[in-house]
Amino acid sequence: MSYSDWPLFDLRLHCRGVDLTPVRESDLPVLAAREPDDYEPDPRLSALPGLEPGPDRRRLFHQGYWRALGTWSPESWVLHLAVRQDGDLVGVQTLEGDDFPVLRTVDSASWLVPAARGRGIGVAMRMAVLGLAFEHLGAVAAISSARADNHPSLGVSRRIGYADNGVGLVHAHEGAVLLRHLRLTADRWRSSGQAGEVTVRNFPPCRPWFGPA
Ligand SMILES: CC(C)(COP(=O)(O)OP(=O)(O)OC[C@H]1O[C@@H](n2cnc3c(N)ncnc32)[C@H](O)[C@@H]1OP(=O)(O)O)[C@@H](O)C(=O)NCCC(=O)NCCS
Repeated sequence: MSYSDWPLFDLRLHCRGVDLTPVRESDLPVLAAREPDDYEPDPRLSALPGLEPGPDRRRLFHQGYWRALGTWSPESWVLHLAVRQDGDLVGVQTLEGDDFPVLRTVDSASWLVPAARGRGIGVAMRMAVLGLAFEHLGAVAAISSARADNHPSLGVSRRIGYADNGVGLVHAHEGAVLLRHLRLTADRWRSSGQAGEVTVRNFPPCRPWFGPA
């Protein structure tokens, strides 16, 4: 079934044996249950008093999905993609653009179930969304930030070719935390040859969702 009124649902990304499709309502129970504890929800989102940490984390996951769809605009969008390997849901890769028609810069976030880590899936799923951003959306740069001790996340960015872009402090639950920032330009992405490994299908009807080409 094709969704002509919300063509984003038909987007299909593929890279190195990993398939990415926009998260759907039917994916929520499995993904919410699988979101790992070491993936930090946005610390600015407040907890629901009276709800235990586990149910509250799953509540935030559901609301993140609905918020992204309900507030989508070309100026500010968040695309959550379900990641599958051999048909099994193993994680989520998020791509987001803020003031995108002007800044042409994308940010990303991701998680994988522990059993799927350390096998290159993190790199493949980031590459998939970069292929979408640089080859189809007209992004000029991608940025990423991770805690200074998050070696897997920093490792994904470095493997793909992001360059150091400074450090900064962020207000997390435990107080100020040091983040490392990284940045990848479209030129560097293209010269790396990685674009050829990414397949994006069904993008043309989605063009208006991201602003003018
Ligand atoms: C971040 C995450 C998605 C990465 O996925 P992954 O599949 O484990 O990563 P990959 O196997 O593709 O590895 C990417 C690189 O990081 C390196 N790496 C992975 N784990 C590492 C570790 N514990 N220490 C040092 N380097 C590590 C790998 O060696 C690889 O680099 P290389 O190709 O140069 O060897 C995954 O670890 C995760 O879900 N973490 C928890 C949630 C999180 O922190 N998300 C990021 C914040 S938004």
